Amino acid sequence: MKKVKISASSEYEVLIERGLLKKAGELIKQTAKGSTAVIVSETNVFPLYGEYLKESLEKEGYTVLSFVFPAGEESKNTNTLIDLWEFLAENLVTRSDVLIALGGGVTGDITGFAAATYLRGIKYIGIPTTLLAMVDSSVGGKTAVDLKGGKNLAGAFYQPSLVICDPDTLTSLPDNIFSDGMAEVIKYGMINLPEFLDTLEEGTDIIDIIETCVKTKRDIVAVDEKDTGLRQLLNFGHTPAHGIEILSEFTVSHGCAVAIGMMIMTKSAIKAGLCKKEALITLEKLLKKYSLPTENVFSPKEIASRAMNDKKRTGKDITLVIPEERGKCSLRKIPVSEFEEFISGAF
Ligand code: GLY
Repeated sequence: MKKVKISASSEYEVLIERGLLKKAGELIKQTAKGSTAVIVSETNVFPLYGEYLKESLEKEGYTVLSFVFPAGEESKNTNTLIDLWEFLAENLVTRSDVLIALGGGVTGDITGFAAATYLRGIKYIGIPTTLLAMVDSSVGGKTAVDLKGGKNLAGAFYQPSLVICDPDTLTSLPDNIFSDGMAEVIKYGMINLPEFLDTLEEGTDIIDIIETCVKTKRDIVAVDEKDTGLRQLLNFGHTPAHGIEILSEFTVSHGCAVAIGMMIMTKSAIKAGLCKKEALITLEKLLKKYSLPTENVFSPKEIASRAMNDKKRTGKDITLVIPEERGKCSLRKIPVSEFEEFISGAF
């Protein structure tokens, strides 16, 4: 079993192994000694793994409760959060009990935020079942729900107590959901792992991919848990992506929007004389290899106007993640008013 130790405001491990879901109860018991375990999941994932997880927890003596909400980003809102809080209160869940997020990014975000706030904080454990959640959202403690004004606008930095990644769960994913995760994987290579880009071009085992991404995120979160500096590198491509998601009314998925966003930022950086062309060649090749889009249909004006309630914005400035060469990005603050002109370089 691969173990990656994360050191943030609290310490925890990310465990990676095929078939690990079988041992989930046993692993959770070592971390959470309480008597009740609450599985939080959604309508696509719970029918696949919910009962299996429940049995594994019951074997360890837990009383198991399940809170299952409708699958999809539309559920990541304050209504679901309130329903979950009320469910926990009605069932007399205490601070020594544990929440378990079984699912993708939406499930992790809602569960994490509920755990951060219910009784002013109870333990939660992540069992990510999508590649995107394994390599990104389940690590680093960003939890949130969407508001009418935008995605992830209400949340907390709150670390899980343990993350269990079983790559066997990825076999049940539709191809497009798997590709979505690959966009974030390619992002790690682009920001600071040139050799990993070679590995991805050649193709490699999914366990190695997950481990490399989690270790990279570990190193970044150890330095900047609260996203005030280095962690912003993880937002490569995300500012235009944010605009694209909104403009498409979320018919373009997060991973696909990030893929297009990375293309826009790389082309713009080349145009501005900040980036070597080879970075774009690698990026485009990898996105195509993993069935991700590279073409954008929206104008720089549309993207810039919709991207501007992005959290990367601080007052009148926005921090951009600029690729410089293959496997190297840096941060650059520019006035918000110059963002449209900057991305026009990609068109
Ligand atoms: N998903 C970006 C971060 O965790 O900072």
